[in-house]
Parts: sequence; C-alpha cells; structure tokens
Amino acid sequence: MESYAKDQKAASILVDWYRQCARDLPWRQNREPYPVWVSEIMLQQTRAEAVRPYFRRFLAALPTVFALAQAEEEQVLKLWEGLGYYSRARNLQKAARQIVRENGGVFPQTYAGILALPGVGPYTAGAIASICFELPVAAVDGNVLRWRARMTDDHRPVDMPQVKKQVKQELEAVYPAGACGDFTQALMELGATVCTPKSAKCALCPVQGLCLAYARGSVAELPARLPKREKRLEQRTVFLLRCQDKVALQRREGEGLLSGLWQLPNVAGTLSPAAALAQAASWGVEPSLMQREIHKEHVFTHIRWQMVCYHIQCAHMAEGFAWAALAEMRQSYALPTAFRMFLDDI
Ligand code: ADE
Repeated sequence: MESYAKDQKAASILVDWYRQCARDLPWRQNREPYPVWVSEIMLQQTRAEAVRPYFRRFLAALPTVFALAQAEEEQVLKLWEGLGYYSRARNLQKAARQIVRENGGVFPQTYAGILALPGVGPYTAGAIASICFELPVAAVDGNVLRWRARMTDDHRPVDMPQVKKQVKQELEAVYPAGACGDFTQALMELGATVCTPKSAKCALCPVQGLCLAYARGSVAELPARLPKREKRLEQRTVFLLRCQDKVALQRREGEGLLSGLWQLPNVAGTLSPAAALAQAASWGVEPSLMQREIHKEHVFTHIRWQMVCYHIQCAHMAEGFAWAALAEMRQSYALPTAFRMFLDDI
C-alpha cells in the first residue's frame, strides 16, 4: 500500500479504537480549553497516572483562568508541589495573566495564538488546538515518534529535528476532519498503553497489520536514539535543622531551578559532620546534637544531586530562616521532592 493511503487507514482505525478503548482520564470529560491546557502542561514529562490527583486538586482550587491569574504564586507552586519542573507552574500563571489582561480571559483559538503562550511549545499547542478546536495539528512527542518509527521501520534517531518535522507533516496530511482531537489522543493513548518503550503489546495493537517493524521483527530495536548526554553531577550538603518541633526553611531566590520554592538550607560540596556543625553554628542556630547523616540522590533534567543531609538538633531559632512545624509545612510551604524526602527522618 502506498504510504499516504496507509496513513489514512491507520488514522481511521486509531480513531475508532480510541473511541472504544480510551482510558477514563479526568481531563477527557470535556473540551474546554482551560482544563485541557492545564492537563497538557502537567502531562509534559509526567505520566497520566501521576498527573490525575494533581489535576483534580488544581481544578478544584483554581477552576477558571481568572482564578489562576489572581492566585498568589505561592498557592500555584504549592498545588504543583511534587510534580517537578516548577517553571511549568510559573509559566502557566504568567500565561493566565496574559490571557486575562490582553484577551479578556478568552483562550486563543488558533495554533499560532496558543503557541505564543509562555510554557507552550509545538507539542502542547498541537494537542490543545486539535482537542479543543478541532484543528488538524499534530502533537508529536516521544510516544508518537516511537510509534511512527515502528510503523515505518525507520531506524533514524528520533531525536533528530528533521525526523520530528517529517512525522508532523505526514500525520497532518491525514488528520481526519471532525476527529482531529480524537486522533491526537489516539496516538497518545497508543504510545502510553500499547506501543510502549519496553515489551510493546503488539498482540493488542489495532494497527499491527500496518506495522512494518512488526512484520520485520524489529519492534524491540526501535526507536533509535542519538547518544545520551551525561547529566552533570553536583554534591550538596543539606541541613535538617530542628528546634523544638520546628524545621528551618529558606525561600529560593533568583531565576534558576526551583526558584520561588522553599528549601532546606544547603551548601555546595560535601561537608564532614564537624564542618557541617561549624556551618550550622555560623548561622546562629546553636547546634547541640548531630542526630543522623542521610545520603540520597535526586535526578533533575540535566543535573544529578548527590546529597548528604545532616539532621541536627538546635537550641535557637535564628533569624534568616522560616521555622515551620511539619503540619504547617504540609499546608503552606511548597518544598520540592529533592528536599521533602529528608523529612521522612522526623
Ligand atoms: N499525554 C499528553 N497529553 C495527554 C492526554 N491528553 N491524554 C493522555 N496522555 C497524555
């Protein structure tokens, strides 16, 4: 079969399959731009099952673009706590304020208008444009590229920009009128539940009969990728400073990773226990007892933090820190996972 005709056939089969077999996910209950947009931002780099409870909580707290625009940044970050990639939350609110200020709260309805929002790239703009506005725009991410590499038995690395560009063009040529949103979500669904990275479930695949890699036995080898860049390794010393029932926190300033969130006090490098006690003393907290030393690692996109955390009892709640009890911390302080994991020690 010629490739255009084959793509048309695949699109039609996938839309039917999606309409019968789609998972019941909370952002699929309607096609209003605001909830779909929030879900697509959360789903960047995060699996659907992990997003589910965050999505519900976020929409309950901030049900409209106006509510999001008016909220304190602190509240938005708190609702995002644990999801990671916090610039997504900051950009979401920046975009909401832009939509309210420049467009009276009406969500942009063209691909270019959606793409112009902070935090929205071609993938997310394609998803929103097709799901909410039935525009024939593809949303091509790693899942779609994997499926496509297998369907066409294409062994070029999928992280080459020209591969993505070609896949987007070929898919958009067969976007089915009236089913654009369902086609976009069918591709996401197939990548997430059937055409998975490891042990693909080819026996359940609705387009198995059109899949070249299946016919040739190369499914497990695909997709090919360019060699990975090593993550930068950073050593940090983290302080769990306790005074009575409270813990010392600091707000991260500046523009970088995790800015605007709270953190346990920390310094670059790996300090010895004696050096850590001296550091704590220099902050004026009057350290009295080194309770424990905990080693953990946390992986961000480009960096790996190797951390040693010293759990130290202190006699003085020095200025320069916020001192919060555990319950307060749960309620009001957004503390990223890289630090939150040390609280288990209390
Ligand atoms: N991943 C990205 N967008 C998605 C969606 N709408 N449904 C399921 N998984 C997704």
